[in-house]
Amino acid sequence: MPKVLVIEDDAQMLENYSRMLKRFGYDCIMEPSSDNALKTLKISKPDIILTDLRMPGSSGFDIISAVKRSDPDIPVVLITAYADIPTAVEAIKKGAFDVIAKPFTSEQLQIVLERALTQKLLMDENRRLKEQLRGTTEVEIIAKSPPMREILALIERISHTDANILVTGESGTGKEMVARMIHQRSQRAGMPFIPVDCAAIPENLIESELFGYEKGAFTGATTSREGLFEAANGGTVFLDEVAELPLLMQSKLLRLLQERKVRRLGSNRFISLNVRIISATNRDLNRSVSEGHFREDLYYRLNVINIHLPPLRERREDIPLLALHFLKRYSVTYEKNIRGISPEVMELLEGYSWPGNVRELQNIMERAVILCNDDYLTLHDIPSEFLTLKDDTLQIFTTYHSAKETFEKQYLQNLIRSVSGNISKAARVAGLNRRTIYRLLKKHDIKVGIDDPSH
Ligand SMILES: Nc1ncnc2c1ncn2[C@@H]1O[C@H](COP(=O)(O)OP(=O)(O)OP(=O)(O)O)[C@@H](O)[C@H]1O
Ligand SMILES: [Mg+2]
Repeated sequence: MPKVLVIEDDAQMLENYSRMLKRFGYDCIMEPSSDNALKTLKISKPDIILTDLRMPGSSGFDIISAVKRSDPDIPVVLITAYADIPTAVEAIKKGAFDVIAKPFTSEQLQIVLERALTQKLLMDENRRLKEQLRGTTEVEIIAKSPPMREILALIERISHTDANILVTGESGTGKEMVARMIHQRSQRAGMPFIPVDCAAIPENLIESELFGYEKGAFTGATTSREGLFEAANGGTVFLDEVAELPLLMQSKLLRLLQERKVRRLGSNRFISLNVRIISATNRDLNRSVSEGHFREDLYYRLNVINIHLPPLRERREDIPLLALHFLKRYSVTYEKNIRGISPEVMELLEGYSWPGNVRELQNIMERAVILCNDDYLTLHDIPSEFLTLKDDTLQIFTTYHSAKETFEKQYLQNLIRSVSGNISKAARVAGLNRRTIYRLLKKHDIKVGIDDPSH
């Protein structure tokens, strides 16, 4: 059943949504606190998000920005009682899938949700196909900064060994990419590379997913199935988000690594295994160990070699190169003829703090390429929420009020120049009266030249 995460602070409304959604055939996850919503999002992995615009705490806009950063494929439908056009336009610009104005009929809601779901399914399919391709195509890691060059050198040295590797670093820094590159550079390259997202598999299914099962091992096991370790035999298993593995599974994994054998659930036959383990986490695993959430012996077994990827803001030299790399790639994908990035945009990209790291940069570049109608990427192509971020380094964009003031002053200066300081003429051209012109000139401290006949 498709899942909808509903974020709405009003308990009564939340109940209403839940009833409607169930009737439409959706699984409804209710979240009354918008501040809690991101956590719920991570855990529940919904297909669609339905959120109120105004709530105490984070607003619907905040939700959109956060989702665009972390899960850009999930369509966000915004509900607003303030059905003014600017709000709707703003929301769409920020990346909302659609906006529904209160009051609405349940049929209207159903239609929007169906469209959102269709889009989500297409995105999923697209991603799956891309991932299939990525498994076979060569990974290209863009690296110019000293720490990244060191990492490339380290990858060269360790790929051909069978050592288990732990890749650490913030979300979006390229951990999976490094894992794939190591696999491709190893003797295992022709064998499978199997990614396992330890955070995404429900706890009660992890064991059967990893180890497989025989027919009749449990209710619902109508056929036998090999586990992911068995499928990867001869190749590499990539344990993503390894810190999220429940303790019980950690012990079972340790056993498997020690014995180099796997036994399907419900079977007593052991299958010998030859797999290399590359794990990744954005957590401090050392701390998980000292806090008792992660087994120390497993930690040492997985972390024979550690590769730590620094966040993008600590290797700004890589930003222009990465930006151009993505520009080139998406220009090909979207059949655009874009030759470069304007200096203002580059300055903006280099100055930004990139909390979502390379993945965020990649998403911004993809959107910019789609929007761009020029030879060069300009500020017009950069999403508005990016330009108005309250980042210390971003002072280029000002408020509407101050932009209007700047425009007014420039307009007046040009106007006065074009009429050689003749106020009556200026008033006629501008369609304002003389008093207003005088007031505006005074406000902006514009001096009128000596050839002004009215003086
Ligand atoms: N140095 C790089 N050169 C080119 N592309 C990169 C580089 N680093 C990351 N990318 C791209 O950025 C995206 C995110 O990378 P990846 O999925 O490897 O990150 P991650 O660290 O696994 O993120 P998460 O913790 O969110 O799972 C990918 O599409 C990847 O291709
Ligand atoms: Mg990853």
